[in-house]
Amino acid sequence: LIKACLFDLDGVIVDTARFHYIAWRQLANDLGFDLTEQENEQLKGISRMESLEIILGIGGVELSEDEKLSRAAEKNTRYLALCQQMTPDDTLPGVRAFLDELKVASMGIGLGSASKNAKIILERIDMLSYFQTIVDGNRITKGKPDPQVFLMGADDLDTLPENCVVFEDAVAGIQSAKSAGMFAVGIGEKSVLAEADFVVPGFNDFHLADLVAASESTVQ
Ligand code: G6P
Ligand code: MG
Repeated sequence: LIKACLFDLDGVIVDTARFHYIAWRQLANDLGFDLTEQENEQLKGISRMESLEIILGIGGVELSEDEKLSRAAEKNTRYLALCQQMTPDDTLPGVRAFLDELKVASMGIGLGSASKNAKIILERIDMLSYFQTIVDGNRITKGKPDPQVFLMGADDLDTLPENCVVFEDAVAGIQSAKSAGMFAVGIGEKSVLAEADFVVPGFNDFHLADLVAASESTVQ
């Protein structure tokens, strides 16, 4: 029985993934190498500092701890400047309608994101009021694929993990949901999100009834 839905932010609610990529790629370029879209895929769902470590590994660049902090801060400034262009129209197609359906059905609605900018972004697209709880990068101590982010969300909503559904576009996020014991819906491609219980390309033409049918037909 589904009682609550927990949503990742970047790439699920809003298309910020392209801004993260632009800002990370600029950082790589500044350090003298490039970051491909495929390499960027492994950064989805991963915290800022862990992402930086992965990128430095790709470029074979070593930095002091201070330099890492200042490069990460610079990336974030660039990222937030790009996010300034966003409006409520940047909410991904079908998301608002789906959340409206959940509200009508009295479902719990929570956010589970590694981002420290989650509230700023939700305000920017005028979506903050939908969420009864926000678990973000400022609250968690263990990032995805650890289940902590979604377990905290379930706890905030007084809901058992088995009654929660997670919507995720990142491989690490699907792993996090599955180790939390939740039903995991992948937003994206089946080939990438193979560990999800169910995969849809997006929320367009996706309704609560489709989710219920999918969760009932999947033997967990
Ligand atoms: C999300 C995104 C990642 C991003 C991380 C931290 O998980 O998918 O690409 O690095 O949040 O975001 P932040 O906004 O705190 O840098
Ligand atoms: Mg994401």
